[in-house]
Amino acid sequence: MRKNIVAGNWKMNFGLDETQDLISGLKKINKTSDAEVIIAPPFTNLFSAFESLKNTNIGLAAQNMHESDNGAFTGEISAEMLKSIGVNTVILGHSERRAIFGEDENLLTEKVNTALKHGMRIIYCFGEELKDRNYGEHQEVVGKQIANTLYHLDADAWKNIVLAYEPVWAIGTGETASPEQAQEMHAFIRKEVKHEYGEDVSESLSILYGGSVKPGNAEEIFSKKDVDGGLIGGASLKAEDFMAIVNAFKK
Ligand code: 13P
Repeated sequence: MRKNIVAGNWKMNFGLDETQDLISGLKKINKTSDAEVIIAPPFTNLFSAFESLKNTNIGLAAQNMHESDNGAFTGEISAEMLKSIGVNTVILGHSERRAIFGEDENLLTEKVNTALKHGMRIIYCFGEELKDRNYGEHQEVVGKQIANTLYHLDADAWKNIVLAYEPVWAIGTGETASPEQAQEMHAFIRKEVKHEYGEDVSESLSILYGGSVKPGNAEEIFSKKDVDGGLIGGASLKAEDFMAIVNAFKK
């Protein structure tokens, strides 16, 4: 069946020393859940993190990548560069990239295609804004975000897709979706994917929840049937908190 995953998105936090300290802290804490654990430090720390995580059960992801294979794109990072340092997973479509850096659905489609072409796994983020939920349009918005960037893929490509539902109003705000709201949306997403690709794809698809997940609320959110883990921001910056969230996963 589908995999449980807890991933830490460190965003633009930590230099080399702090990265090493946090990784040492993570390694000291016993993992008691069956969840796959991934951390996504900033680009500058990915290689040292890769070296430190050898022979551990913690994996790595990049927070972004460029849609082109290579070339004159000053300041950008390609899929092959990531793979060359042992990073095979990339987070795409985070709401901060969409809102602050103007990443739209056309660009995200290109990024998705490039990542898959290079054999990378994608943690694909999306989620509605508060106004969408207030208008009762949250499912429609989320359904379109997924359809417009992923439904051109063939069924086989979905083996390399992990979805992360992150309602924008819950990111970094301390306000979480209730476990019921998360379950309702995750069930909706699975149903939509089933409609498009059939049950084999929809039932093997991991759908993570992100938005103010903390040690105190993780267990209840993760206990929901269609919630297959979490994408964690703030709480992934403390080893004890992050591992408490990983170990809150009981299925
Ligand atoms: P917080 O956990 O800090 O709300 O961030 C969630 C997030 O954006 C993960 O990608």
